[in-house]
Amino acid sequence: MVKVNLGGCNSFVNDAEYKAILDKALEAFDVLENETGAGNDFLGWKHLPSRTLEGSLISEFEAVRDCWAAKKVDLVVVIGIGGSYLGAKCAVEALSHNFARQMKTTDAPEIVFAGHNLSEEYLCELMDYMQTKNVATVVISKSGTTTEPAVAFRIVKQYLENTYGKAEAAERIVAVTDAKRGALKSLSTQEGYKTFVIEDSVGGRFSVMSPVGLLPIVLGGFDVRALLEGAKAMEEQCAKRCTECNPAIQYAAMRNLLYNKGLSTEVFVTYNPKLVFLAEWWKQLFGESEGKDLKGIFPASVTYTTDLHSMGQFVQDGARIMFETVVSVEKSSRSLVIEADEQNLDGLNFLAGKHVEECNHMAELGTKLAHIDGGVPQMQVAVEKLDAYTLGELFYFFEKSCGISAYMLGVNPFNQPGVEAYKKNMFALLGKPGYEDMAAALQARL
Ligand code: PA5
Repeated sequence: MVKVNLGGCNSFVNDAEYKAILDKALEAFDVLENETGAGNDFLGWKHLPSRTLEGSLISEFEAVRDCWAAKKVDLVVVIGIGGSYLGAKCAVEALSHNFARQMKTTDAPEIVFAGHNLSEEYLCELMDYMQTKNVATVVISKSGTTTEPAVAFRIVKQYLENTYGKAEAAERIVAVTDAKRGALKSLSTQEGYKTFVIEDSVGGRFSVMSPVGLLPIVLGGFDVRALLEGAKAMEEQCAKRCTECNPAIQYAAMRNLLYNKGLSTEVFVTYNPKLVFLAEWWKQLFGESEGKDLKGIFPASVTYTTDLHSMGQFVQDGARIMFETVVSVEKSSRSLVIEADEQNLDGLNFLAGKHVEECNHMAELGTKLAHIDGGVPQMQVAVEKLDAYTLGELFYFFEKSCGISAYMLGVNPFNQPGVEAYKKNMFALLGKPGYEDMAAALQARL
């Protein structure tokens, strides 16, 4: 179970302040539970874990996996951006052996991503790689109109059709999109692609436990049932109206209290490089949900101990604008003991007999105390180990916390009006019909 430890905030807040903010958190929790807040038609994510475990979707994902296995597909290109990319990418990174591909120890196809940038170099190199592999693709876009994945899909689709022929290519393409709307839906219907639906009530950044995240996770050979079981456990825990036992209420409360005290940046900290993309997923979840109406906690991230040698100086004694949230994994899944060295030229024999993870853990504790001394409050979000079950717990925990926290802040967690501005400018500059006047005005400013 995810545990939230607020001890590292004790010297920055007092009991009365915390009690008062808990009352506010409970009010926001009620709004979310009773579905009375802004954006309440986007709450389908709340029961995705339990509903998906009960339904037949997982078997349908497994049928795609088995069909592509029969074709000996060894590379799946997952195309999507934002919420249609980050959850799957996070799961693949968190649950894979760091060197599985180099060691060739897995039979599952390799999952690579596209459509999350507009880099020509990236797409050319993807084409180079596809030529060496047996390829299928999953294209994911709720709106079905997002430029980055649409451009990547056009290129991958053409490659598949040129390589395997149109009919076979259609069997190697699966679309995840809206039930009725959008160009991707129309194209899928016309070309006869297998399609999975993103429900209207599930927004992009809350969609990791819909086909958006789950299909790539199944295709990558990961334990999707365990992930959903972990998420379901948190679905139950985080539905409790309980300030003592609901970690989502505790986390949402404290981050708002620290924000109200002028700390406008939250730094997500991990000591495990497999969680770098959990941080990226978390940044989108909170950044896009809370950063609006000129409000919001800026979500940043670091990976320690790596970044103690780059960002550590700023965190320790740069501008006092931040607090830290450490996602702490209590037990390593592997064991490696540092041995004594007869010559001890590096002077490290005091570490002999210790596990590497003990060094990592002491670095975590030492950093916590140093940063608190430097004026940086620290929360800890702890899981016992890193596996599919606990990753599911973390996904759900952060989603629920985000809903509560955004309502505390007074914003609609489920819209993203600010994302449109760059798109309009880009379309105008690229010469999209209908944008001529805007293009002229923009060109004059450049
Ligand atoms: O959270 C969101 O809504 C966004 O980040 C979207 O996921 C992202 O813009 C991609 O949108 P779409 O799935 O419509 O292509």
